[in-house]
Amino acid sequence: MERSLSIEVIRVTEAAAIASARWMGRGVKDEADDAATTAMRDVFDTIPMRGTVVIGEGEMDEAPMLYIGEKLGSREGPEVDIAVDPLEGTSIVAAGGSNALAVVAIADKGNLLHAPDMYMNKIAVGPEAAGKINIEAPILENIRAVAKAKQKEIEDVVVTILDRPRHSHIIEELRRIGVRIKLIDNGDVAGAINTAFDHTGVDMLIGEGGAPEGVLAAVALKCLGGDMQGKLVPKNREEFERCFKMGLDIESVLTLNDLVSGDDAIFAATGVTDGELLKGVQYKGDIATTQSIVMRAKSGTVRFVDGQHSLMKKPNLVMG
Ligand code: FBP
Repeated sequence: MERSLSIEVIRVTEAAAIASARWMGRGVKDEADDAATTAMRDVFDTIPMRGTVVIGEGEMDEAPMLYIGEKLGSREGPEVDIAVDPLEGTSIVAAGGSNALAVVAIADKGNLLHAPDMYMNKIAVGPEAAGKINIEAPILENIRAVAKAKQKEIEDVVVTILDRPRHSHIIEELRRIGVRIKLIDNGDVAGAINTAFDHTGVDMLIGEGGAPEGVLAAVALKCLGGDMQGKLVPKNREEFERCFKMGLDIESVLTLNDLVSGDDAIFAATGVTDGELLKGVQYKGDIATTQSIVMRAKSGTVRFVDGQHSLMKKPNLVMG
């Protein structure tokens, strides 16, 4: 992949974030998501690549754009697989909460797991605990391993998990073990990435979230030297059949390299609402400011990019 793609791709996530952040706190999810998707789609075709969406807004008959199989890019340059989540955290934006992101991951063709739209059980950690996790081992064992790797006491370890009834038994167990727990309402991509940055205070993410989000988080953690494992969790017959048809073994553990293979991949995200890692979009007059992270697995370079955008010159990003 061309190195310059990592800079180009920020324009895509910035556009999605600027378009969707206008909907912050307005109580509507779909409008925010549509704004992000349309803006992201518009910018993609200016990028020199021959991309195919492998994780997107849905199947071709369900989504008008950024659907699975859609071709993106200026049709020149490298052939790549693209995973998008134009708005990761639609409910976050609707409620004006934290950690909504516009997200894109790119890898050489064939290197991203085509994760079906269902749940995935996940465990994610930053670089210090890479190689120490095992999704099939008891939670206590994983926590002990992370504590040891990070030279922390168990009661100082912070575990983040989506606050969902399906996790109540895990949350109870975490409380018994005595770790600190950060319950999040939504946004487990940010939750997973946060494990790689000390200042976020998060050591580990566990629990079931979206499988597509799992692949996006895996690309980020690969770039950051972190680690992640996942297991698909089909909930009904249709989802079991989908896994079977796709040749996905639901019994096997998906390692970081199964989620994103090869040694190169690019991840970019722009904050839509404020979070531990990225500031959300701010507007003043005809200026919008953004904060993004972009990183590349091959070089290990991580960049934080502040943007200032003239909305007068980018009328497509102004809410109608
Ligand atoms: P959306 O942006 O699609 O609403 O996803 C937000 C999210 O919280 C993800 O971060 C997470 O993986 C998934 O939803 C969890 O799903 P559920 O809300 O069904 O528990």
